[in-house]
Formats: sequence, C-alpha cells, structure tokens
Amino acid sequence: MVTNLPAAPTPDDAALWHAGRLYLTDQRRLPERAEFLVLDDARSVAIAIRDMVVRGAPAIGVAAAYGVVLAGRDAYQSAGAGWKEAITPDLDQLREARPTAVNLAWAVRRMARLIAALDGADPAPALLAEALAIHAEDRAANRRMGDLGAELITGRTDIITHCNAGAIATGGYGTALGVVRSAYAAGKIGRVYADETRPWMQGARLTAWELMHAGIPVTLQADGAAASLMAGGGIGWVIVGSDRIAANGDVANKIGTYGLAVVARYHGVKVMVAAPTSTIDMELASGSGIPIEERDPEELLSCGGRRLAPAGCAARNPVFDVTPAALVDAIVTERGVVLAPNAAKMRALMG
Ligand code: MRU
Repeated sequence: MVTNLPAAPTPDDAALWHAGRLYLTDQRRLPERAEFLVLDDARSVAIAIRDMVVRGAPAIGVAAAYGVVLAGRDAYQSAGAGWKEAITPDLDQLREARPTAVNLAWAVRRMARLIAALDGADPAPALLAEALAIHAEDRAANRRMGDLGAELITGRTDIITHCNAGAIATGGYGTALGVVRSAYAAGKIGRVYADETRPWMQGARLTAWELMHAGIPVTLQADGAAASLMAGGGIGWVIVGSDRIAANGDVANKIGTYGLAVVARYHGVKVMVAAPTSTIDMELASGSGIPIEERDPEELLSCGGRRLAPAGCAARNPVFDVTPAALVDAIVTERGVVLAPNAAKMRALMG
C-alpha cells in the first residue's frame, strides 16, 4: 500500500494499491509514456492482464491478488453475507486471464484459500492484507534471488538476457534483472545485452528502459544476433526469468529462450533461470504439459501499427517455449539454487 503515489511510475511500480484502487503501470505505452491505469473492479484487472497492461509472471500474480480484493469488495456490497458465492465468477476470470504463467493461478489459489477460511463479514481488510503480503514476499524473494544468483557469477563478464524479467515484471527488483542488479553492484557484470524479444519487444521497450533507469550498461540486439555475440567470446551467462517451471526442471519462458539455451550450450555459455518458487508447478511432471499461450498473429504481422507482411499471410504466434532442464545450468529461487536441475533436485527444493 502506498500513501503517496509517485508522479510517474518507475520500474518498481508495476502494481500499486493506493486509496482503495489498483494502479497498474501501463506497460503497453512504455517507454514513450510512463503512466498508471487506475482499476476499480476485478473484471478490469483480468482484462488488463490479458491485454498486457501488466505482464511478467510474478507481476500478473500480484495484480490478480489485488483483483481479488476488488472482487471481494464488490461481492460483499452486492451480496452481503453471501459474498463467497458472488465472488466465484471473478476468481475464475482472473485465473483464466493468461494461461502460461503459473504465478497467476498460484496467487488466485492462495487468495481462495484465505476466502475459504473467512466468514460472512466484510472480507476486504483480510483480502487486502493477503494481497499486500504476496506483493511484499515477491519483492523480498527477488532480493534474495539477486544475492544467490550473483554468487554464481565468478569474475567479471557480460551477459545476455531475453524478454523482460525485471522490476516491472514482478513485485519489484526483478528476477533475472534482480540477479543483474545485484551482480552489477558487486562489480561482476560489465554489460547486459538485451534481446529485443520479437514480437512484443519486451527487451527493447522494457529491459532497455529499466536498465538505463538503473544506470546499468545495456546494449540492445536483434534476437538473431545472440549466437554470433556468443561466438565472439566474453559472454559468461544467459540470465532469464520463467513463467512456469515443471517438476523436472523444464522451464517455460518467452519465445526464443529455448533457442538461446541451445546456442548457449554450443558455445559453453551458462544458462541461469531466476524465478520464485511461486513459478514452480510441481503438478506438471515435465514441460510438455505446460500450456503455451498463442496470441493474435497480428502482433507478428505488424509492428508499431505498421503492417509488415503481405495481406493474407499466415502467421503463428506462440509467445512462450519450453527449455529442457538439460540445457539449464542453474535455477535460482528464494529457497536456494538448483544446479543442473532434475526431478529429484526440484523435489528436494520444494520439500
Ligand atoms: O508475455 P510476457 O511479457 O508476460 O512474458 C514474460 C516473460 O516471459 C518473462 O521472462 C517471465 O515472466 C519472467 S518475469 C520475471
């Protein structure tokens, strides 16, 4: 909860609760415009998640938790003591807003567990306390992952990152970019090469903005430039986030991560995945069970409102892919680091 809203959102302000309303930084407008969208009901939050006003696995979990607060407030206003039945459609809509990032379902499930324990009285104060806890825990987890991930980097190196797994994609500080922040502060990173991340351009629009804001040297590159950069030497790590990690350590992340990991292995570059345990789905034995979101092909056929491909051209737009655990050198969570992940090590981490 913030008492004073910042005049303009910073990378740490993906989602803020202020005076009974949810403020989301509209990530579709960054970096040209940094402005909040103000939301008053759960339906608007679900639409904002679907439309990528807020994106990044942990950030959509945080936003959904605040969405449940709004849902509880409305359900109590309309149904009084019968609010628990009235809230169900909103919970479903929030949970289904996007399919791949498990943090969304995780956050709604955690809020639903609390709902089950409440009585017919006004649920808003208890729901808000839980949403604020989810938000604060995510920030704390990112700080911890930052320290643990930075420890894995020995010496000074340049790194490549893909998509945006930064403060703006989380409750604050960032997962992959949290590691980058901590490692840079420790003098271990010279420069970050940010893949532009076609087609939604999270790297060009968000990672470049965020790292420049933090004063960390960043160079943007086309996704296809990563292989030749690695071949030239000087890249020690690829550091990325994740939207869902299966029980065997397979990692779903932004489309292109898999290719990057294959290329990294060929060149002897290590791959680090930084993600809180809320991203780990122990119910899925392997990555083949992870639902991969397909978005509107128009995202691919046009760029910045300008049509690129010929009219009638077919296009496919899966927005995530799965990197097999065998290509991952380290999964960094707030509970600890799993090197060369496999099912037994993931089980040990998750207890
Ligand atoms: O489609 P997006 O922008 O929500 O995809 C985000 C990613 O793939 C991130 O790398 C992932 O959520 C990790 S964010 C800390």
